[in-house]
Amino acid sequence: MGRGPNCLPESAVLILMRLTDEEQAMLAGESGRGVQKAMEILTALGTIYGATDLVPVSSAQVSGVSYKNLGDAGLEFLAEWAAQGARVRVPTTLNPAGLDMARWQELGFDAGFADRQAQVIRALAAMGIRTTCTCTPYFVGNLPERGDHVAWAESSAVSFANSVLGARTNREGGPSALAAAIAGRTPRYGLHLLENRRAQLMVEVRCPVRSTADFGALGVMVGKVARNRVPYFRGLGELREEARAHIQAVDQGSATGPSPDLLKGLGAAMAATGAVALYHIEGVTPEADDPGIITPNAETIVVNSLAEGYAMLQSPQSESVGADRIDLVWVGCPHASLDELAQVIRLLDGRRTRTALWVTMAREVRAEAARAGLVAHLEALGGRVVADTCLIVAPVKELGFRSMATPSGKGAYYAPGHSGMAVYFGALESCIEAAVSGHWKI
Ligand code: F3S
Repeated sequence: MGRGPNCLPESAVLILMRLTDEEQAMLAGESGRGVQKAMEILTALGTIYGATDLVPVSSAQVSGVSYKNLGDAGLEFLAEWAAQGARVRVPTTLNPAGLDMARWQELGFDAGFADRQAQVIRALAAMGIRTTCTCTPYFVGNLPERGDHVAWAESSAVSFANSVLGARTNREGGPSALAAAIAGRTPRYGLHLLENRRAQLMVEVRCPVRSTADFGALGVMVGKVARNRVPYFRGLGELREEARAHIQAVDQGSATGPSPDLLKGLGAAMAATGAVALYHIEGVTPEADDPGIITPNAETIVVNSLAEGYAMLQSPQSESVGADRIDLVWVGCPHASLDELAQVIRLLDGRRTRTALWVTMAREVRAEAARAGLVAHLEALGGRVVADTCLIVAPVKELGFRSMATPSGKGAYYAPGHSGMAVYFGALESCIEAAVSGHWKI
């Protein structure tokens, strides 16, 4: 095999990237077949997207973990890669799996599914990956600094890393994020380059946007218009330093300051209806004040009302469900913070739930919540704090839920298609009232 910039790997893809001697050796298989396979994926990707070289990454977030989505073919692919000696070179965290790895039985999941899911996790753990199973890795220590290059998958996490933390990542798929973790590098294209981080769409917000549901409604509206462009918001609040301080405080187990939950909800919703992987908010996000951050020919849209977004997210069309009847209330898409769990408990105000009420979050955040007495408090009122999974990647159809209420824009957008449930979308207050009464009332 040649060692010049245009050398051919086994896959015979013409590589038009500059590789270091070490990278060429990795591609030639000198570090084993597992690393070679990672390099083949990365160089093919870099060639397709016109990358000039590979850039070292400081962390990775790997998606494609749920056995519901992977199936046997995905499980075999991961097990084979692990058996080929693939090991991650940078701290790597995992996206949600198909069930709560510790409490799947009491939640009603199937034993066969649990066994297959455990095999997936074992294959990933064998590669040295931390089996966090969360879409909010920034709450559990995977917290890149501004300017860090990372390789993250999971669209809401990607949006948060780029926009709120100022790190640089493309919207990776599961295999490419895993390949980057194994090689410690990713192709330098897209959002790794400053010129692609400039805003092409100005969004003037002229209506109040306050709650998680409001930010979700705004996100689905803007995502639909933005598609894969970078939006720049004017007219939203002031959160930047406080948000980062809060994340670090959560990480250390003592949440203080305003919540970043509004920002994670906004990014998640825009990534659902569009392919938005980065946004800026004037006076809030870290790159928003950089010179030249807005392209001169940026289109401008004005948002005077969130009504369209709220309407887009209501899908209570299931005729088999009694009008406005709710089986399940879901909070925690993206995975919930301690603040969000505490807020749910405050709103319940000692009342028991009539419906199932799931708050989904990272396992480590649940452990912290348990130490603070929050898990026992919620569960005494009928709720469940569910870790490792969510209502979109879990096989919830088999759990018998038919109608759901949620304050999450992303959750409401995907749930009808992924779970077959009728979905009611609204403020957290409305969702908690629905959990207590069993019915949806706005
Ligand atoms: Fe996370 Fe599942 Fe929502 S992966 S962003 S909780 S759809």
